[in-house]
Amino acid sequence: MNAITFDPETWIAAGVAALPAAVALRRAIHLEPELGLDLPKTTAKVRAALAGLPLEIREGPSTTGILAILRGPANGRTVLLRGDMDALPLTEDTGLDFTSQNQGAMHACGHDTHVAMLAGAARALCERRDRLAGTVMFMFQPGEEGWHGARFMLEDGLIDPLPDAAFALHISPNMPAGVFAGRAGPLLAASDVVRIRVIGAGGHASMPQDSLDPIPVLCEIVTALQTFVTRRISAFEPAVITIASIQAGTTNNVIPEDGRLLGTLRTFSERTRSTAHEGIRRVAEGIAAAHGVRAEVDIDHGFPVTVCDGRVTDLARRTAMALFGDGAWMTMPHPMMGAEDFSYILQKAPGAMAFLGAAPEGGDYRTCCALHSNRMVLREDVMARGIAMHCAMAEAALSGDLEL
Ligand code: NI
Repeated sequence: MNAITFDPETWIAAGVAALPAAVALRRAIHLEPELGLDLPKTTAKVRAALAGLPLEIREGPSTTGILAILRGPANGRTVLLRGDMDALPLTEDTGLDFTSQNQGAMHACGHDTHVAMLAGAARALCERRDRLAGTVMFMFQPGEEGWHGARFMLEDGLIDPLPDAAFALHISPNMPAGVFAGRAGPLLAASDVVRIRVIGAGGHASMPQDSLDPIPVLCEIVTALQTFVTRRISAFEPAVITIASIQAGTTNNVIPEDGRLLGTLRTFSERTRSTAHEGIRRVAEGIAAAHGVRAEVDIDHGFPVTVCDGRVTDLARRTAMALFGDGAWMTMPHPMMGAEDFSYILQKAPGAMAFLGAAPEGGDYRTCCALHSNRMVLREDVMARGIAMHCAMAEAALSGDLEL
C-alpha cells in the first residue's frame, strides 16, 4: 500500500514555522543538562513550551516525565510520539555558545533536540487538531541512558490505554542531514552489564605457588569469552561481548586476593541473550575452577531488543518520502549494536523508531564526532523536518494510511 492522504505542504510549513522556537528550546535544555529519572529543570522547560495548549497532562511518581494528551475531534485510534529528555555524564568540549553549564553533564546523545522537536510537534498538532482522526500522546521521557525511564512511565500507568501505534525519532550526526533512516524488525540491541569477580588468595609476587593469583585467570576469561561467542553462537545471530574494564592489583610485588571484569553484552534475540548469559557464567566459573579459584558472575538485565513493526516502519518510509522526496529515506541494511529503552514501548504497541541525520554543516557525516562524544555537534535546522515528520506520522497513523 502506498497511498498517503495527508497534505505534505501543511506539515512542511508547520515544521519550518516551528523551527525558531525549537532551536531556542533545544539550546536552553542543552545549557542545563540533567541526568537520570529526575529532571526538574528540563521538565519545567517542557511545561513552559506546552503552556496554553489544549493538552491533558499526566505525571507519575517514578520520574519527572510528562505524558501530554491531545484529543482530536474524532474518537479513533491513539498514536504515541516519544522524545527522551536526559543527558549523559561527561564534560562537553564543543566550544558552542550554549555549551553545558553543568560540569560533568552534556546532551551528547541529542535528546535536547528530541524534546524540542516533540514540543514543536505538539504545538503544531494542537493548532491543526481538526486533521486528527483520534488521539495523540506526547511522551516526554527522562532516564533513557540506562535508567529504564520508559518502563517506569509504563509502570506508573501513564500510558493508558496503550497506543495503537508508536513512533520516535533519534537524531544522528553520522547520517546525511535531513535524511530519515530505519528498518523493520530489530533496530537496536538488547544491552546487559556483565560483572565478573575472581577470588583467589593474595601473597608475595615472587612466590606465586604460595598464593592463588586471580590475574592470569581474569585474562584467560577475557579471551575465552571471545572464543565462546564465535564457537557457541550462530554467526546469523549476532552477539557482542566486550570486557571494557579490568581491575586488579596495586603494585609490582603483591599478588592481589581478587580482581574484577566489567563489560557489556549486546544481542538481538532472547534466545541468544539467554545462551550468552549461561555461557558467560559457565566459562568464567569453569576457568576459575580449573585454576582452583572462584568466580562470581553478575549480569544485569538492561534494555530489551528494539524491534520495529514492519507496518509502522513502512509508514515512516512513505511519510518521509511524501514530505521530502525519495532521497529522504534510507532503509538500514542491518541493526546497530546501540540500545534504546523505547524498546519497552515497542514491546507493548506496534511502532517504529527512525534516525534523523544531522551531520553538522561543513562536516562529513562519516567522520564527524558520534553520539556520546564530548565533541558531538548537530545541525539544528533538520529539526524542522523532524517536527514535520512527527506531525505527519501522527496524522497518518490515525488514518487509513496505516493498516493495522
Ligand atoms: Ni539517545
